[in-house]
Amino acid sequence: MEVKTNINWFPGHMQKAKREMKEKTSLVNIVYMVLDSRIPKSSFNHLVKEIASNRPILLLLNKADLADKIETKKWMDYYKSQGYYCLDIDAITGYNMNKIVPLTYEILKDKIERNKERGIKLSMKAMITGIPNVGKSTIINALVKKKITQVGDKPGVTKTQQWVKLDSNLDLLDTPGVLWPKLEENGMNLALTGAIKDDIMPIDEIVKYGFDFMNTYYKEAFYERYKIDKIDSIYDIYEKIAKARGCKIDDYEKINNIFLHDLRHEKLGRVTVDRLTSV
Ligand code: G4P
Repeated sequence: MEVKTNINWFPGHMQKAKREMKEKTSLVNIVYMVLDSRIPKSSFNHLVKEIASNRPILLLLNKADLADKIETKKWMDYYKSQGYYCLDIDAITGYNMNKIVPLTYEILKDKIERNKERGIKLSMKAMITGIPNVGKSTIINALVKKKITQVGDKPGVTKTQQWVKLDSNLDLLDTPGVLWPKLEENGMNLALTGAIKDDIMPIDEIVKYGFDFMNTYYKEAFYERYKIDKIDSIYDIYEKIAKARGCKIDDYEKINNIFLHDLRHEKLGRVTVDRLTSV
């Protein structure tokens, strides 16, 4: 007997999302893919290449304020070597945001020139894509300088499609294309930065992974924040965090939350979780 389950629902849903994104992309001349500068690999979705077809892709490495500057530079050099255009930005303070429009014109200059020669007076069109929580709405808001999208919007909420003017000759689709991250490959790094919700992976494992990560790459900041002198076991770390932050030594839940909050909000310094060696 054939048992019908709804196991195919998710792939079907993904197919629909992909089709919709392809339709939107067919309307634009350039695709912006927003990455989280702390996880430039884990927040990169290869589907964009397929969807963009031969349109240029500008990678916007957002939340640059939270990432390690040296690593961001390495990632930008790497992506440039792979044929992408790149810009590191911080949509909150506005760092490099004023470079997006001029860079877009630069990237599209041949197309603009061709249109001119043929007497075509069409504005260039762009759209923003990226995984949830990477800052797409914040970027759109900052670019159009008014609140047209609700920050924190959930994917799947349908809105009427509309274009917003970024400049006299450049329009932006006001609804971003939402891409899904690959949990199988990048789950821990996505979880550590808070790109995915804390209930998707076991929090103890995320925290343990985070301790190892900090101890490997940012030992000084890690030791300094929690007054750690040496680590013989993971319990030493829990103990030191509890002591430094005035909570009960066996309140693991609280300590987990303190550590993750610190790591995600620059209290342990700027961190880049994806390392280029992991490409
Ligand atoms: P989305 O549309 O891609 O889903 O992302 P959205 O703009 O809603 O932004 C997600 C969170 O990231 C928001 O914080 C936003 O303020 C923050 N954010 C966006 N751009 C930047 C940036 O360049 N730097 C920093 N530091 N933060 C940025 P939130 O709603 O408070 O969420 P969370 O901070 O608790 O994750």
